[in-house]
Amino acid sequence: MCGSYDAVGAAVRRRPPQLAGWSSALTGTITMLYIRNALRPSLTRMFVARNASLHTLPELPYAYNALEPHISEQIMKLHHTKHHQTYVNGLNAAEEAYAKSKSVTEKIALQSALKFNGGGHINHSLFWKNLSPVNENGGKLFEGPLKDALERDFGSVDGFKKRFNAATAGIQGSGWGWLGYNRDTQKLEIATTANQDPLMSLTPIIGVDIWEHAFYLQYYNVKVDYLNAIWNVINFKEAECRFLEATK
Ligand SMILES: [Fe+2]
Repeated sequence: MCGSYDAVGAAVRRRPPQLAGWSSALTGTITMLYIRNALRPSLTRMFVARNASLHTLPELPYAYNALEPHISEQIMKLHHTKHHQTYVNGLNAAEEAYAKSKSVTEKIALQSALKFNGGGHINHSLFWKNLSPVNENGGKLFEGPLKDALERDFGSVDGFKKRFNAATAGIQGSGWGWLGYNRDTQKLEIATTANQDPLMSLTPIIGVDIWEHAFYLQYYNVKVDYLNAIWNVINFKEAECRFLEATK
């Protein structure tokens, strides 16, 4: 399965806690407890609350310097190890607090933190996968169903990129630019989301981070240069995989 919000969420949510140094028998017992959470919700909540580290920073599928000169090693390293890690930490903390919360008002008060950090985690998890080094076909869109659909829905691939860049550059403040698939109309659409809001109205095909931390150290205030450059390292193979899954 290629990258999707569901794939990212399932991979981390279903992963039992790592119990380094614990006996295999005890680890097995706790894993069973975790799996049976539908039958033993209170015990599982207690365990998760005390050992909450369910979400982890995914490894990049390439080296930090592999996207140069289009995205610098410095940006990639900071973006991945500092910014994404902060969302992971924030999500784990919010989920731990949610598991401990005893009232509806306490749960409602955590919604903002869950949305911001959860969105940050899953958006970035998709983002790393939709980039690829040039020598691994980054930026190359071969003949196939995605290219056909882009030409059908936007007139041409270049026309799509121009409209995508214009919409994404127009975001006020921080956010994300998206190519998404509309299951109702069965067409590709360009969309934007603010802050770390995930794309919920469409199935994400390509997401581009337009927070300043994604480009400022290299492109300063010139968002358009960053947006023009990133097409050189877009992983269209991954995008086409997401497209094909969305259109099943
Ligand atoms: Fe980011």
